[in-house]
Amino acid sequence: MRYPTNDLEHFWMPFTSNKAFKANPRLMVSSKGVECTTHDGRQIIDMSSGLFCVPAGHSRPEIADAVSEMLRDCAYVQPFQHGQPAAFELARRLKALYPGDLAYTFFTNSGSESVDSALKIALQYHRAKGQGQRIRFVGRERAYHGVNFGGMSVQGMVKNKEAFGPGLVGVLHMRHTWDSNERFVRGQPQNGAELANDLQRFCDLHGADTIAACIVEPVAGSTGVLCPPKGYLQRLREICDKNGILLIFDEVITGFGRIGGNFAAQVFGVTPDIMTMAKALTNAAIPMGAVAVSEKVFKTIMDATPGMEFFHGYTYSAHPAACAASLATLDIYEKEDLFKRAAELSPYFLDGIFSLKGIKAITDIRGIGLLAGVDLAPKDGTPGARGSQAIQDFWDAGVLVKMTGDTACIAPPFVSEKKHIDRLVETLRKVFSKY
Ligand SMILES: Cc1ncc(COP(=O)(O)O)c(C=O)c1O
Repeated sequence: MRYPTNDLEHFWMPFTSNKAFKANPRLMVSSKGVECTTHDGRQIIDMSSGLFCVPAGHSRPEIADAVSEMLRDCAYVQPFQHGQPAAFELARRLKALYPGDLAYTFFTNSGSESVDSALKIALQYHRAKGQGQRIRFVGRERAYHGVNFGGMSVQGMVKNKEAFGPGLVGVLHMRHTWDSNERFVRGQPQNGAELANDLQRFCDLHGADTIAACIVEPVAGSTGVLCPPKGYLQRLREICDKNGILLIFDEVITGFGRIGGNFAAQVFGVTPDIMTMAKALTNAAIPMGAVAVSEKVFKTIMDATPGMEFFHGYTYSAHPAACAASLATLDIYEKEDLFKRAAELSPYFLDGIFSLKGIKAITDIRGIGLLAGVDLAPKDGTPGARGSQAIQDFWDAGVLVKMTGDTACIAPPFVSEKKHIDRLVETLRKVFSKY
């Protein structure tokens, strides 16, 4: 083992019960494909792709080689008023995958930064059009858009907000789309398109010309995989168009083949004006995020602004190592036709997951592509307790599954084989049947 594992005191871990973890650590010391090795020498399979971010499997040597080469040749170029060719090449390659007229890419280092950058782009767009009064954002309950102040403000998960004050002013939240009367739905629910009308109600109540953008995850991921009801995203698009509001899709989880097409926008046939990405962009080998914008958004800002057009950027925007990692990742997706492989594995995966219906503790199952959410009834009425138990039970059983509260969020790597799905389903059955 390269690093000691006996002194864990000084790392403040993110989104973790630090005290409990340090009393009973779960450490990984190596990972390959869908398999990881724990610090105590056990093999476990990763059925959540880390945090939905390693579709091509862990520790791909092609990516390591590309990064290593870049770090030796050109480890850093300052991205303000200077550049390096890999960033331009990556933006060109990404454009070929984007839906509709999305064509220009702004690079960041994470999903959270992508969301905050997207919100700023929306504000700047309206200012460029002489509508600087459009400063409100519309988000949604049960959304997750990262942890920076912009994303925190528009997201809708209470625990991620309650300690941190009001955030951005003027943010409005539409209702979430989960319907307790329509459970165990594979793909898109039939009912609920009218929930998009919340956006129109905000226009009517607050004035459409005060709203800059509406941001949604096409499939709400971290909150437990909530598919949009049929017609819902189309309705949002119509309301945005009618009222001059920009539509932002946060595709940090759904991007890059997770639900069946390149992006969810293509799967559902609705093109946003702005789209955020991260995670699978580099197969998680190096942190990177991105924001794609339409021709209209880009040209409006460029044409209206002399000199520097956007006073925003990061020291590590389009970092050379991240660009190299992403280009190598896109090569793997293409060479191994991984988005197609994911789409072909999806029915087998969803059959397995939905076969769990009937287990007493399971109150709902949802899924699309290689993404599924399984809700458990809270233990003794305490939300999250059963989820914490499940994390340990999965660890002991040798299968990694992400829990959000009492919901299992399952997202196998695209390189998984049927035998991995079988083991996943068998483990879920065994663990959940005990509850
Ligand atoms: C939809 C969505 N947006 C934004 C983020 C934040 O990404 P990051 O953790 O890279 O900041 C996430 C992370 O899970 C996400 O799922």
